[in-house]
Amino acid sequence: MTALPDSLTLGSLRVDTPVVLAPMAGITNAAYRRLCAEQGAGLYVCEMITSRGLVERDETTRKMLVFDDLETTRSVQLYGTDPVYIGKAVEILCADFGVAHVDLNFGCPVPKVTRKGGGGALPWKRGLLGEILEHAVAAATPYDVPVTMKTRKGLDDDHLTYLDAGRIAQETGVAAIALHGRTVVQAYSGEADWDAIAALVDHVDIPVLGNGDIWEAADALRMVEQTGAAGVVVGRGCLGRPWLFRDLAAAFHGEDVATLPTLGEVKAMMRRHAELLSEHMGEERGCKEFRKHITWYLKGFPAGGELRHQLALVDSLASLDVLLDGLDGDAPFPERELGTPRGRQGAPRKKVVLPDGWLDDTDGRGSHLREDADETTGG
Ligand SMILES: Cc1cc2nc3c(=O)[nH]c(=O)nc-3n(C[C@H](O)[C@H](O)[C@H](O)COP(=O)(O)O)c2cc1C
Repeated sequence: MTALPDSLTLGSLRVDTPVVLAPMAGITNAAYRRLCAEQGAGLYVCEMITSRGLVERDETTRKMLVFDDLETTRSVQLYGTDPVYIGKAVEILCADFGVAHVDLNFGCPVPKVTRKGGGGALPWKRGLLGEILEHAVAAATPYDVPVTMKTRKGLDDDHLTYLDAGRIAQETGVAAIALHGRTVVQAYSGEADWDAIAALVDHVDIPVLGNGDIWEAADALRMVEQTGAAGVVVGRGCLGRPWLFRDLAAAFHGEDVATLPTLGEVKAMMRRHAELLSEHMGEERGCKEFRKHITWYLKGFPAGGELRHQLALVDSLASLDVLLDGLDGDAPFPERELGTPRGRQGAPRKKVVLPDGWLDDTDGRGSHLREDADETTGG
């Protein structure tokens, strides 16, 4: 049995618990990262931003690059397909935003992204992937900032890319590789393949971070034990459950903690989440942003349909307070929800949408892929 890691080292960066909050577009903004970080140590990655948006000083991109005052380790995920833009963007993140970690997105399955050869489609082009990683590492090295990459197993079972990606990451000086154990065509359906994570661990010497289907702290320990991963990346499991980071931190330090908040405690966390969003975005926008989290917080708890409906329309902290008052604070945590999936699942896609002739060549160096500044779809 593999000994459990109790910390994570990414180049010069040491994280006190081997746990990373998965970048999730539209979710992992400054408010959410702060909420999770208050629960326990870990690395809390900003939602994805585009290299082109950053380089061209796009206003939306700039607005996404907000950090909480208490956020001492700034970590950002970048998206891009052009080595030069990526290099420049990494330089800006290090020089102007003081980031301590940059992650690169090579896992996004969204058709409008893969159609342009980005996200999960890109690792098929091994040469281009290498160029992008080289540029990113070269830009980050003077600042001593580690660069990591996050990817999937491949396009589909017949076009796997993760072992090559791991080798290329290692050769180009990338500090760690995170693997989501699904292919692009699977999107979020089916089960994550942890055996692939184990195979990648065997294949490379750099740290591998395992990702996919961690719903409870016990799952994280099991993943690390089964695969030998240096740490875990947790996404959907913490939606409406920032407490999961407390349980994860405890688990990796040898304590068995399962936080089962009452509905009263959940209400307090919801209020705090909405408050933090309001502080960062203004009350109206913050409350609107908060709406998408309500179903996750209330999953399995007793709350009438009408009340849920009203909550989904909340537009001020005062109206949130009135609505939360209508929930029974003594209701216990619905334990049947433990270990069950939350967030996106859905069906596999029929096929991966790719640029014309994408599969014909596996190198791709020098290709000029169109990269939008306003790509925000993420994972
Ligand atoms: C709403 C949502 C947004 C996501 N956005 C991103 C993203 O911007 N970048 C990324 O690399 N992955 C993104 N992902 C994928 C997650 O980071 C993670 O790899 C995936 O959800 C599997 O992990 P999990 O089973 O712990 O959720 C997103 C996932 C969700 C559910």
